Amino acid sequence: MKTKILVTREVFDETLEYMAQYCEVESNQADVPLDADTLARRLQGCGGVVCNLTDCIDEPLLVRCPQLRVAANIAVGFNNIDLAACTARGVMATNTPEVLTDTTADLAFALMLATARRLTEAEAYIRNGQWRGWHLKQLLGVDVHHATLGIIGMGRIGRTIAKRALGFEMRVLYHDPIRQPADVERQLNATYVTKDELLAQADFVILQMPYAPETHHLIGAAELKKMKPSAILINSTRGGIVDDAALVQALRDGTIRAAGLDAFEGEPKINPGFLGMKNVVLAPHIGSSTEATRRAMAMTAAKNAVAALTGSKPPNLLNKLSVRA
Ligand code: DGY
Repeated sequence: MKTKILVTREVFDETLEYMAQYCEVESNQADVPLDADTLARRLQGCGGVVCNLTDCIDEPLLVRCPQLRVAANIAVGFNNIDLAACTARGVMATNTPEVLTDTTADLAFALMLATARRLTEAEAYIRNGQWRGWHLKQLLGVDVHHATLGIIGMGRIGRTIAKRALGFEMRVLYHDPIRQPADVERQLNATYVTKDELLAQADFVILQMPYAPETHHLIGAAELKKMKPSAILINSTRGGIVDDAALVQALRDGTIRAAGLDAFEGEPKINPGFLGMKNVVLAPHIGSSTEATRRAMAMTAAKNAVAALTGSKPPNLLNKLSVRA
C-alpha cells in the first residue's frame, strides 16, 4: 500500500503527478491555509506532509500525528518548523535551497532599485493623473551604481546579491557570523566589517539571514539610528528580523531615507504605518515568486518527501536523522 501524503496548499499539476507515482496524495487545492486543528485532522494516517511557511509544524502537531515521518517545506527558510521537535520524534524535515537563490537575489536588487528610484511612487504619480510633463527636479532619487552596499547575512543569497552589485560597480561591505574565504571576498570584491561599521557606512543595507531567536529584531531603533539619514533598508528575507514599529518611526522621523520590504512581522498583517508612506516600496513576500522557481521549489519539496518515504535520504535533509525505510 502506498504511504499517504498531505500537500497543505496549492502546488503545480506536475508536483502532484510526480508524488502520485509513489504515494497516495491528498492535497488542499482549495488553497486556504489550514488552521492547526484542520492540519492535524487532515494529517491523520499520513506519513508525509508537503508544507510551506504558513503551516506550523510544531511539537503539539507532531504529538497528534504520530505516523508523520517527513515534513517537506516548500521554502528555503524553515522557521515554521520546530526542527528540534522533529528530530526528537524522528521526523525528517527538509527545505528547498539552491533553486531560489538567483530569483531571490533578483528581488532584493529589484527592491533596492525601485526604492532608490522611487518607482512605485512614480507609477502612482502617473496613474493618479498628476504628471504635467518633464521637469528637472521631478521625483529625484538616489544612485545605486557606485554606492556602498552593506549585506548582512552572506550566505548563498547574500553572495549572489554581491555578484549582481559588481555589475553596478558598487562598493560591497558585508557582515555575517562566518567570514567568507579570502578568494570569495576577492571574487565578490566584498569587505568584511562589523555590523556597526556596515550600518554607519552603507548607502543600502540588505538583510539576508534566516529568522531565528538570535536574529529577532536584529534591526531595531538603535541600529536604525546608526545608519546614515540618506540610507535605504531592504528586507527581503523574513519578518521579525526588523522591528517594524521602529522602522515606521525611523522613516517618519527621517532617521533613514527609505525602505524596500518583502517581509513583515506577523505577515500577512502589516504595520499600517507603512501603507501611507511614499518612501516605502512594499511587496507581499514574492522573493522567490517566478514561475520557474516556484515550480522548482515545489518539485524539490516533492522529491524530498518521496525520498524520505521510500527509504532514501532526502537531498535537503535539515536534521541529522537516520532514514527509516
Ligand atoms: C523561502 O524560501 O524561505 C521564501 O521566503 C519562500 O518564498
